[in-house]
Amino acid sequence: MAKSTIKIRAKAKNGVTTVKSLMTHPMETGLRKDKKTGEKIPAHFIQEVKAEWNGKTVMVANWGGGRVQEPLSVFQVQGRCQRRAGDPDLDRQSRRHRQQSGQDRLIRSGPPRSGRSAHAVLKHASILLLILLMGSPVLPASPQEDQALYLSYFTRRFPGIFLADFANGAYTIDKQDRDNWLAMEDFPPYDPYIDEGKTMWSTRFRNGSAYADCFNGNPAQRKNYPRWDSERGEVVTLAMAVNQCRESHDEPALDYGRGPMASLLAYMAYESRGQITRVRIPENDPRALQAYERGKAFYFRRRGQLNFACANCHMESAGQHLRTETISPSLGQTSGWPTYRSDWGELGTLHRRFQVCNDLVRARPFPLQGGQYRDLEYFLTHMSNGVPYNGPSTRK
Ligand code: HEC
Repeated sequence: MAKSTIKIRAKAKNGVTTVKSLMTHPMETGLRKDKKTGEKIPAHFIQEVKAEWNGKTVMVANWGGGRVQEPLSVFQVQGRCQRRAGDPDLDRQSRRHRQQSGQDRLIRSGPPRSGRSAHAVLKHASILLLILLMGSPVLPASPQEDQALYLSYFTRRFPGIFLADFANGAYTIDKQDRDNWLAMEDFPPYDPYIDEGKTMWSTRFRNGSAYADCFNGNPAQRKNYPRWDSERGEVVTLAMAVNQCRESHDEPALDYGRGPMASLLAYMAYESRGQITRVRIPENDPRALQAYERGKAFYFRRRGQLNFACANCHMESAGQHLRTETISPSLGQTSGWPTYRSDWGELGTLHRRFQVCNDLVRARPFPLQGGQYRDLEYFLTHMSNGVPYNGPSTRK
């Protein structure tokens, strides 16, 4: 069996300590077979890594079976945290790891817990999450690292739910609401809007062109948006692309919250059902990452008289009740748009919902399709990469 060791280095700079560790472990996925006996070799890998500083947990990481034998993990802590020779905590940490005790408080290794492996996700360090939810400044992490972290967070919060199910918002987790919703879906109230959108798609503009000329003849465009447009230097959403198309053909722009825009988006979403969310943040244009980071900062910033961030409700309190509603997890929240809401009595767009949620905490809403909400959509949709699109949808 491969030997297990831990090497740790900590460096403090500008009030932030970066901790790097290299841990060797057997890394048996449980899928490999012994060549001689033909029997499966039992799973054996690090599953949970916890770092403590002055008795406080500063990092917890849940790892899956897809790691290398000597994974490098890096996390950052606010403040100075330097290793001293003989530091009892670190010594205890490595001794315990050597013992590979199943009860180990700091490092646990063993077969994967049941029910979780279905998600086949890379479990990732949650130091960033802890820090963000404590209201500290955002520390840099790549969009891919962010996404692995959110995925890990939500799949831990709601074990046994498949990634694709997150497309159904609160109905994924609330059984009673789900039953009512399924009954409503027998005769979905969004049906007439899809028909209206289809008519719009096939009706020519006054100059003889049509939407098809702007979208390669294909209404199934959901998976291509939101996207970074490097010529314009901004995030372009599908709704915005629709109005760009209209304006380029001398047609007036449509209202972004409801009405014909929502109907056309409903038809395009319907045609796109089953496409998988796959937002990319291109690496060759640093402005794209900046837009993503602005969206992320928006999501975690507390605002309004109630001083709530999106994350306070849709991460921390997901699954809990606010008045008569179950709060949905952010994961998958961008999948089902546009949405018919009973309290709206009509179909509405994602940005309209952003406005409602800003309003809910008595914060001033931002303009529909303004830069703030487009960046937010870019971030939020990226968070849901892997979740299928299933719009339009119904919500009570
Ligand atoms: C005070 C709690 C609260 C805050 C803060 C909040 N929301 Fe919501 N949000 C709700 C509730 C309640 C609903 C309706 C139930 C549901 O579907 O989650 C909702 C619904 C949504 C939905 C629709 C989900 C669906 O499946 O139809 C989206 C998208 C959303 N919120 C995004 C946001 C964003 C982005 C922010 C930050 C700008 C935010 N919310 C802030 C409470 C909140």
